[in-house]
Amino acid sequence: MSDIDVLLQENRRFAPPGHFSEQAHVNSWALHQSAAADMEGYWASRARELDWFTPFTSVLEWTPPRAKWFTGGTLNVAYNCVDRHISTARRNKAAIIFEGEPGDRRTLTYWDLYVEVRKCASMLKSLGVQKGDRVGIYLPLIPEAAIAMLACARIGAIHSVVFGGFSPESLRDRMNDAQAKVVITADGGYRRGQVVPLKRNTDKALEDAPSVQHVIVVQRRPGGLGDESFADMREGRDHWWHRLMAHASTDCPAEPMDSEDVLFILYTSGTTGKPKGIVHTTAGYLTGVAATTRDVFDLKDDDVFWCTADVGWITGHSYLVYGPLANGATIVMYEGAPDWPDKDRFWEICARHGVTVFYTAPTAIRAFMKWGDHWPTRHDLSRLRLLGSVGEPINPEAWVWYHEHIGHGRCPIVDTWWQTETGAIVISPLPGITTTKPGSATKALPGYTAELLDANATVIPTGGGLLALTRPWPSMLRTIWGDDNRYVETYFSKWPGRPDLYFPGDGAKRDDDGFFWILGRVDDVLNVAGHRIGTMEVESALVEHPAVAEAAVVGKVHELKGQALAAFVTLRTGFHHSSELRDELKAFVADKIGAIARPDDILFSADLPKTRSGKIMRRLLRDIAEGRALGDTTTLADPNVVAGLKEQYESQE
Ligand code: WTA
Repeated sequence: MSDIDVLLQENRRFAPPGHFSEQAHVNSWALHQSAAADMEGYWASRARELDWFTPFTSVLEWTPPRAKWFTGGTLNVAYNCVDRHISTARRNKAAIIFEGEPGDRRTLTYWDLYVEVRKCASMLKSLGVQKGDRVGIYLPLIPEAAIAMLACARIGAIHSVVFGGFSPESLRDRMNDAQAKVVITADGGYRRGQVVPLKRNTDKALEDAPSVQHVIVVQRRPGGLGDESFADMREGRDHWWHRLMAHASTDCPAEPMDSEDVLFILYTSGTTGKPKGIVHTTAGYLTGVAATTRDVFDLKDDDVFWCTADVGWITGHSYLVYGPLANGATIVMYEGAPDWPDKDRFWEICARHGVTVFYTAPTAIRAFMKWGDHWPTRHDLSRLRLLGSVGEPINPEAWVWYHEHIGHGRCPIVDTWWQTETGAIVISPLPGITTTKPGSATKALPGYTAELLDANATVIPTGGGLLALTRPWPSMLRTIWGDDNRYVETYFSKWPGRPDLYFPGDGAKRDDDGFFWILGRVDDVLNVAGHRIGTMEVESALVEHPAVAEAAVVGKVHELKGQALAAFVTLRTGFHHSSELRDELKAFVADKIGAIARPDDILFSADLPKTRSGKIMRRLLRDIAEGRALGDTTTLADPNVVAGLKEQYESQE
């Protein structure tokens, strides 16, 4: 835990501006106090902000580590995100303002969304999708992605969205694990002016995913992508979205779902090779995301909310789709890259659509800083009133730049800590009341209890330790799809005999004000550009290559991405290292997992540093990759290996 000790001294303080506090939904600490006094009562009242078909009869059944929230009740997530707004003044309000990378634009009102979601739900039913069936969604960031998610929720099908940047193999593994019946994809999507061939990737994935019976293909642009070969439609299996939708009925009532019925599975990286299918359920998830969206982003009816995340990640689920729509907000959805065609695309979009609340990731903020202040200066950002950050610790310098150059000193910043597993934001400022410190996610929101613990589960009031959530919360994951033991082992076994303590895998520091400073993962999960990548996943991919005998992957500090991957590779006899092989291995990993997992460095080595029990000493490999003096090498089986590696690594740069 040595890295838990380092902490920069940050003395800057930013009190919420008076004009903001006055109008904020949450403008006193009373909410925290009442929630702490009666946690279940607090969440019950937040759950009652949703529309229920039948009210719940119990708030929480907690048999650690299993929680059931709001049992006895029935509701529907799509009904809460769409139908309930139709009978109000929101009916003709913009729900989704979409902009494609090539510049095409579409606005869907809540009424439009209501029509599309019902039709899509009927379309799924007509292909035999029933309550509880799994539907894969592998789409660009276009309105159809949100429509498909909501349509699944409407009929009780379980969606599993796979990020469009993932490879065919990643898609195949996820569809097999989930045993998906249908996949919804597109002929392509746009990224930096190129077409991402999603349908072709899907075809490749489905060569070995027998559970999938139907594929629905969205035509990304009217008239197609100008190249027929982007989608070879297979008779009987493949269907064009627009053809089926043209005949789909709007008569498709929202299925009453039990509170604990599964809403979706979302795969995320763990420390072993296989991604984990994180399972979220209906009522608790929606309660958590709806309440936190309202409080943290202070959403009002005239806000235009832009969360830049893709639907392939949890942030896209919770704060692009479900949380904002449950609140009847107007959301902005942008398909492409922030630097296409130029480095001011985001600011142009903010100005054009009058974005008021903007939520992005530190990796993007660092890129904006690097590109230069003149890009945002060109655009009118005066409607912005609140900024957010998520995905990794934000460096204080990036925080202050964001505050000055995007927020013009006027907008509070909410640095939100949470995870795929937590479903919703857990630690974050509330913008009307929290005096923020750049780099600190501050305190747990009302209804959550976060602590720092040592190895014996003793609370550490100030200093460094392991982050723990000590009480259950409504939007917590319920299990890992198909691997319930792994749920218990990964999240509730850190402190022996204490299955009530949730371990998120992060280390943190707590200061004298009780503020949390998240320091990052303490396990072998890396955070590259805000995305979690298990080192084991990349190692397994490398070892699949015929030339590779053994591989160890570590993270090294990267200026823009936060962390980058460095791989140490031992070759099989008969293979020789070369720069061609190095490039080939990088491409191989990108192909197996997706471009986000491509290693920056690959070092060939005759041996890897191991303990006498045969464990690879990653700590030492990290020292090498980051150019530090080597730490303690006394437990190594052969200390010479690591000295040689260090020399080789340095001479290569
Ligand atoms: C990291 C993304 C510091 C953390 C919502 C966590 C953060 C992992 C922050 C979850 C933050 C996320 N400050 N670190 N504000 N937000 N993290 O599942 O290590 O993709 O465990 O969920 O990202 O990543 P995930």
